[in-house]
Amino acid sequence: MKIDILTLFPSMFDGFLNESIIKRAQEKKLVEIHIINFRSFSTLNNQQVDDTPYGGGSGMVLMVEPLVRAIESIKTKDSKVILMCPQGKTYQQQKALELKKEKHLILICGHYEGFDERIRSFVDEEISIGDYILTGGEIPAMAICDSVVRVLDGVIKKESYEEDSFTNNLLDYPTYTKPQEFRGLKVPDVLLSGNHEEIRKWRKEQQIKKTESKRKDLLN
Ligand SMILES: C[S@@+](CC[C@H](N)C(=O)[O-])C[C@H]1O[C@@H](n2cnc3c(N)ncnc32)[C@H](O)[C@@H]1O
Repeated sequence: MKIDILTLFPSMFDGFLNESIIKRAQEKKLVEIHIINFRSFSTLNNQQVDDTPYGGGSGMVLMVEPLVRAIESIKTKDSKVILMCPQGKTYQQQKALELKKEKHLILICGHYEGFDERIRSFVDEEISIGDYILTGGEIPAMAICDSVVRVLDGVIKKESYEEDSFTNNLLDYPTYTKPQEFRGLKVPDVLLSGNHEEIRKWRKEQQIKKTESKRKDLLN
């Protein structure tokens, strides 16, 4: 898979791309990630990419032209162009599992007051990561990129992400590690029993209990 991220703040991605699982996935050539500064697609003086809104109002609006020129320079028939936008559909794990099937994602990060409305004619979809406003689309793009790369074949074990919260509309089961007892809090006996069938049954029950108590909405 290839992921291109269009941003005005490329250095925000330095740590994200160069640590842990995302770094290893790139080293293993399971994903190719490029950060593109769309300022370089401006044809105006000082590489201007934003301007004041028509009709007045506060803040600066990202111009459509540099963004479209950037998209068109990398887009192929296999590309899916996604706008980071608080007005888009709220991102969920199921969407990460859908996006992993794509060959090429282009993620567009807004900033300031947002985009010239006409950008919507040049994207395939809009994604929000939740009902709150961030200063820019960089964190949403990282969230989408991370969650998609994590479920690409060969990045982590399939069993690991298949047991994660939200798969089958359930939360994950409780996990413990050493020591067996900490300040009177004990690891449940069943996990020390070595009986794999009992452990499997217990974990499933715990998933249902946890989901009922914390996220009943998922069970509907
Ligand atoms: C300050 S926001 C603009 C918000 C816009 N004025 C509005 O109310 O819809 C700047 C940019 O950050 C990104 N952004 C902010 N919050 C987001 C969210 N919850 N999900 C996805 N992108 C977001 C988008 O790219 C957006 O264009």
